[in-house]
Amino acid sequence: MRTFRAPGRVNLIGEHTDYNDGFVMPAALDFSTWVKISPLEQRKLTIFSENFSEDIEIDLDDQNLAASGHWSDYPVGVAVVLERAGYRLRGARLQIRGEVPIGSGLSSSAAIEIATACALVANSGLKIDPRRLALLCQRAENEFVGARVGIMDQFVSLFGQAHKALLLDCRSLEFRLLPLPDNVRLIICNTMVKHALASSAYNERRAQCEAGVEYMAKFLSNVTALRDVTIEQLHQHADGLEEVVYRRCRHVITENARVLSAGEALERDDLERFGELMGESHRSLRDDYEVSSEELDLMVAIAQKIEGVYGARMTGGGFGGCTVNLVADSQTEEFKERVLREYERATSLRPEIYICTAANGAEEVRT
Ligand code: GLA
Repeated sequence: MRTFRAPGRVNLIGEHTDYNDGFVMPAALDFSTWVKISPLEQRKLTIFSENFSEDIEIDLDDQNLAASGHWSDYPVGVAVVLERAGYRLRGARLQIRGEVPIGSGLSSSAAIEIATACALVANSGLKIDPRRLALLCQRAENEFVGARVGIMDQFVSLFGQAHKALLLDCRSLEFRLLPLPDNVRLIICNTMVKHALASSAYNERRAQCEAGVEYMAKFLSNVTALRDVTIEQLHQHADGLEEVVYRRCRHVITENARVLSAGEALERDDLERFGELMGESHRSLRDDYEVSSEELDLMVAIAQKIEGVYGARMTGGGFGGCTVNLVADSQTEEFKERVLREYERATSLRPEIYICTAANGAEEVRT
């Protein structure tokens, strides 16, 4: 038996930019999904989830496998996409245990996809370039599960590094690893509201971005994604755009600029500036992209009043889930205590607070 691990992620800045060929800055988390795998003679997969205490079985030669809204869609989708891409898989028994909170915007889905993919590839004696593997897992989510996600989560789950944030160009898939200073903590606050309806609203945002690109490409040459449009060009063509599409585009274009500025700020250790950019990102996601929620806004507002907080914003797709906070190390306890107290008083929900460090990407675990 072999064991593989792949982490969830937190995105520091650069939200809803990945599927616009833009820039993101996630870090891999020290929460992972673990897949134990052992070979089987027959071309079938049996998959057991420890979290759901449930077993499923699929025949790898079945051409009619389809998603059913079940947890198994993610590992099955990965197997189906690998097979369709021409990688012949060997039968296996998989045992999955996830510790990334589900539905919280910390990419439990990418963690299960990447851990499964690494296990299936190794069990079948295959070698796949990690960039290609990330893209195949994204395809599993796009084509099999039906969520039109970008490449950020799968990419950082493979390429993340301990104590580093990863600044990724989602068009070229080139990246830089930026050191996170020792004197700050990444603190994640879970609103405990799961992102219900997120998938349809997410696909709708994507379609609005595409509508913006389609319109502007009529006037501007070489525009294939919002990545290629400047804020001045957006202003010039504002009259021809539906108001809501204009605001969606404005978020993406300004957010891309914020990621690049945040990268520079981190490189010169300017945490004040980094934190301001996080605040701007949150406001833009709230007002222009409209993917925040009352609870996320409240969690950010509470954090921003606490001493030692450089920045706070929602993280991930939105509509619930978590905030990410950059907090001076010395203030960690005070931060935790105040957020717990004030958030619970206002909502009657007891938040979960995770004090995180950036971790390594997926790997085989020697047991
Ligand atoms: C989800 C998707 C990512 C990304 C974020 C928003 O996490 O999986 O690809 O689009 O939302 O930034």
